[in-house]
Amino acid sequence: MNHFGARGGELACEGVPLARIAEAVGTPVYVYSTATLQRHFTVFRDAVRGLGRPEPLVAYAVKANSNLSVLKILIDLGAGADTVSEGEIRRALAAGASPERIVFSGVGKTAAELAFAIDVGVAEINVESEPELDLLSTIAAEKGVRQAIAIRVNPDVAAGGHAKISTGQADSKFGVSMSEAERLYAKASNLAGVRPVGVACHIGSQITDLAPMAAAFGKMRDLVGRLRAEGLNVERLDLGGGLGAPYFDQPDPPSPEIYADMVAKAVGDLDVQLAFEPGRMIVANAGVLLSRVIHVHERPEGRRFLVLDAAMNDLVRPAMYEAFHDIRPVREPSANAALETYDVVGPVCETGDTFARARLLPALASGDLVAFMSAGAYGAAMASEYNTRPLVPEVLVDGDKFAVIRPRPSYDEILAAEPIAPWL
Ligand code: LLP
Repeated sequence: MNHFGARGGELACEGVPLARIAEAVGTPVYVYSTATLQRHFTVFRDAVRGLGRPEPLVAYAVKANSNLSVLKILIDLGAGADTVSEGEIRRALAAGASPERIVFSGVGKTAAELAFAIDVGVAEINVESEPELDLLSTIAAEKGVRQAIAIRVNPDVAAGGHAKISTGQADSKFGVSMSEAERLYAKASNLAGVRPVGVACHIGSQITDLAPMAAAFGKMRDLVGRLRAEGLNVERLDLGGGLGAPYFDQPDPPSPEIYADMVAKAVGDLDVQLAFEPGRMIVANAGVLLSRVIHVHERPEGRRFLVLDAAMNDLVRPAMYEAFHDIRPVREPSANAALETYDVVGPVCETGDTFARARLLPALASGDLVAFMSAGAYGAAMASEYNTRPLVPEVLVDGDKFAVIRPRPSYDEILAAEPIAPWL
């Protein structure tokens, strides 16, 4: 459920017509609903409440949408933060996260980033390889700290979904194998700078079939048993993110309640604190990308191009993963409006800048507004200034008010960020 819908014939976010935002801020622009963000986080948190001991940590995956206002809404509701860079840790702190609720993951953390995370006092660093374990232990020991860590395990299951976002197979770059995890856990417990507290996994994203997750969690459960049998202490189990969000035209993912039931069956009776790292299911349907039609280009040979002012640099998912985003006209078409077939494209100079081929839409004309639905996750967070298009701005709606939460940079700001080499 989300808070975008028709009001008086126009698509609105909560109490604010999208056309009003387009008028005030210009397009393209991302628009987020506070009520939807709050609802999705609360539904997930309530579903997993009571699983494991103590209460689970729901560490929102900052990478999905790292805007400070979005983070603050979730952190104010009790979210922790799953981070993958010093920048994301800084964002989580700036939005009010306490370090004890920050998890630091990622395959290639630099020495500087590890040192920063230790100094900040993050709850847990998820270690993904032996060289990282050694590096972290050396850095922490020099600081006189024993940093809490989890070993990120690659459970070798295929998550389904798009190959580029599948992370849990043996040939992917993430984590270590089950047997390596056992060896490294034992090794870590004898290192001066680290204190192994648990194990972690994350098998992929936009998962709509729970079977691979259940299989992975079962393997994690067995691993915890083996570690404990060796006399090692395991207090935490981080199950990652990955639960799919409902995208239009795609199979509906299981609800958080059904997901929580599966988790309870797989690992509910293990005496551990569970951590979850949901990203997409919280923010995807809390955001749209609002764009204006520049023109409709009809070729005499037949193809009809809907040329928008949004492009692949603003929303890269269709170009990168062949992702489907529902596109809705902001002004509601009449019930019997004829549909036309469009190739929906942006102005960037490559063919990949195509949002949709042969999409059926009500007739649109230059100046009309359209909204890319389900664009709150991995939308603005993956945007760039390719083609020197100013970074897409973001707007937050709450009831009948809205605020710009990241302004569109001016051309002067863009150019001022690049000093010309002094010898030129
Ligand atoms: N935890 C870890 C360790 C992750 O790598 C990820 C996502 C998450 C949690 C959050 O997963 P989620 O709940 O959002 O599925 N850019 C791609 C998605 C990349 C996901 C990367 N890792 C897309 O636009 O589809």
